Amino acid sequence: MTDIQLQPTSKKLQGTMSVPGDKSISHRSVIFSGLAEGTSHITNFLTGEDCLRTVEAFREMGVRIDQKEDRLTVYGNGIQGLQEPSAPLNFGNSGTTARLMSGVLAGLPLFTTAFGDASLSKRPMDRVVVPLKEMGAEISGRNQNRLLPLAFTGRTLKGAVHELTVRSAQVKSALLLAGMLADGETKVVELGQTRNHTEMLLPEFGVDIDVQGSVITIQGGQQPQASDIKVPGDISSAAFFIVAASIVPGSNLTIKDVGLNPTRDGIIQAMKQMGADIDTEIHTYIGREPVGDIRVRGSRLQALKLDGELIPNLIDEIPIIALAATQAEGTTIIKDAEELKFKETDRIEAVVTTLAKLGADVEATDDGMIIHGGASLQGGSIHSYGDHRIGMMGAVASLISSDPVTIEDKDCINISYPSFFEHLNEVLR
Ligand code: S3P
Repeated sequence: MTDIQLQPTSKKLQGTMSVPGDKSISHRSVIFSGLAEGTSHITNFLTGEDCLRTVEAFREMGVRIDQKEDRLTVYGNGIQGLQEPSAPLNFGNSGTTARLMSGVLAGLPLFTTAFGDASLSKRPMDRVVVPLKEMGAEISGRNQNRLLPLAFTGRTLKGAVHELTVRSAQVKSALLLAGMLADGETKVVELGQTRNHTEMLLPEFGVDIDVQGSVITIQGGQQPQASDIKVPGDISSAAFFIVAASIVPGSNLTIKDVGLNPTRDGIIQAMKQMGADIDTEIHTYIGREPVGDIRVRGSRLQALKLDGELIPNLIDEIPIIALAATQAEGTTIIKDAEELKFKETDRIEAVVTTLAKLGADVEATDDGMIIHGGASLQGGSIHSYGDHRIGMMGAVASLISSDPVTIEDKDCINISYPSFFEHLNEVLR
């Protein structure tokens, strides 16, 4: 485990940068092209550890995937061409791989087993296992099928109607993928809008999917066809720079070619509500995904209330929004965010403990946190909790801390943003 010590700085964030490809879209582009017939080309693929787990899973199932930097060529053999892996699949730290691949593995005529690292092995899998079993899936696992490792005796599933009880794009996507492989029709009724990349990207692979408000319908027995995908920049990675440029006075930063899908842009809405100086401009569509540039200038921030429908829209950005709130005027209240407890670590506890250690005034609640603004952060030694987004939050905190910030176990940042420190150094001037 490597540590990093970040020294106090008076530099500002300036100039123009790009962030790596979107994690959610990168996973989906490999899964869909791995199931497809024909050769798909994926560019601006996120080469973070999580997405490479999904690549490895398909390689284990006999799909040739060539990688040159952020370009992948996936030689799909179709659903029928997938082979039984000879070894357990290693999903590492990746919740998206674990949940989406469960939907796929349940519906393929193969026997597979899968495991994850210590963090993923604690994360709930029953949210996908239970509804997949309603479609006829045979899945068994640890702790009464709630946790990895899991074993899948894949088979032809039956279409079903699922009324979701969690707001989760991963669960929705797992069930839609299982539905695509099943006999008959599958409907997923969402509890509230979550990121819709599966619905947006499957049609690019020739798969019909119908979206009527919160009801998504897919017909079984569809074979995806190869497609060429360019992955937009990840707004969840951009979020660290959006907040950094907002809280470091005098900053003026432009982040280019970021995915601005309305189911993901809660960070922009939240920061604007806080009074941040942010302009966005959609300049193109990649497939159905809007892509644009984000310009951020340093500004004074106000506290805000975050709850309800907006939460799924910025769920991964709450750690960095919490850091912004320590610098705002007033008290920020974050509610309805109990899902944070089931992320790479319990992010309510990790965010509150970490920000408090750095000198902020923060309290955990059952479903979120309360952050008293106007704090002067002094710095100190913090742990990443093995969670990439906690590690990056700590790094951004160092830009406004009076003393050095040491981040223990910084390597987890490679999960979603391997070039994070390089990019940060490039824009600090
Ligand atoms: C993701 C969905 C979210 C998010 C995760 C990626 C996805 O999880 O936190 O980082 O790609 O579908 P949930 O849908 O479980 O909330």
